[in-house]
Amino acid sequence: MSDGTLTGKVAIVTGAGGGIGRAYARGLAEAGASVVLADIAVAGARAAADDLRDDGFAAEAVEVDVTDEDSVAAMARAAADRFGSVDILVNNAALMAEIMGETLTTTSMDTWNRTLAVNLTGPLLCTRAVVPYMRERGHGKIVNQSSGGAFLPSGHYGLTKLGIVSMTMSLAKELARDGIRVNAIAPGWVNTEAGMRTVPPEVRQALGASIPFPFGDPEDLVGGLVFLCSEASDWVTGHTLNIDGGWIPRT
Ligand SMILES: NC(=O)c1ccc[n+]([C@@H]2O[C@H](COP(=O)([O-])OP(=O)(O)OC[C@H]3O[C@@H](n4cnc5c(N)ncnc54)[C@H](O)[C@@H]3O)[C@@H](O)[C@H]2O)c1
Repeated sequence: MSDGTLTGKVAIVTGAGGGIGRAYARGLAEAGASVVLADIAVAGARAAADDLRDDGFAAEAVEVDVTDEDSVAAMARAAADRFGSVDILVNNAALMAEIMGETLTTTSMDTWNRTLAVNLTGPLLCTRAVVPYMRERGHGKIVNQSSGGAFLPSGHYGLTKLGIVSMTMSLAKELARDGIRVNAIAPGWVNTEAGMRTVPPEVRQALGASIPFPFGDPEDLVGGLVFLCSEASDWVTGHTLNIDGGWIPRT
């Protein structure tokens, strides 16, 4: 998608060193945005930002822990210092493969608390950090990463991703007066390294048989993301968009 839809916009993508975040950052850059690639594992974000710059795009890597308010504030400041402000936030960072197999009744309180901190508190802190910049501009687009797992029994992972759906609706209402739209994407099974770890090969075939278009690539999410970040979706807010090959039928 190199159509210039987002020319002049500044975007932050969290978890941008991971499989989907990397594709999101590239998709936004190809649509014309300057992109800050933020990740706790900053080496991956740096490599992705280097790739983008090599291809002529405006990109910068930033180390962030989305659970830490000061770290998140520094990320937003870095975007504003480097590129002028923040127009777009993609709350993509989360724990997923790391916590698969954990059950609600047996997981340790440390894992439970860390999952809530990264997957729910993180997107909220990042949102709070960028809102002042967006408010100043009178517009903004926030896209939260949910999951098809939100709508099936998926332990504390699914619980956080359903929380993202709820947070998206509430933030959409709260931030409308500032011209900020807040939406979410609920991907199906995506072929990232983390996604592969989540679905072991022996489960993969059986799972795939029950989904109209099973298993997408990170790039399959990019069209929806660019839409939700562009003016074309200005009358869309509080919505969670399934991009999942028909995995979770939902009205
Ligand atoms: N891959 C799938 O099948 C799939 C399906 C549905 C939803 N998702 C969601 O998509 C997103 C990305 O998934 P992925 O497959 O690319 O996973 P991934 O593990 O490759 O990417 C997650 C990234 O988040 C980063 N991260 C973790 N904790 C962080 C923190 N405290 N601060 C900042 N960054 C942190 C990690 O370092 C990693 O780079 C996640 O929100 C995930 O829940 C993935």
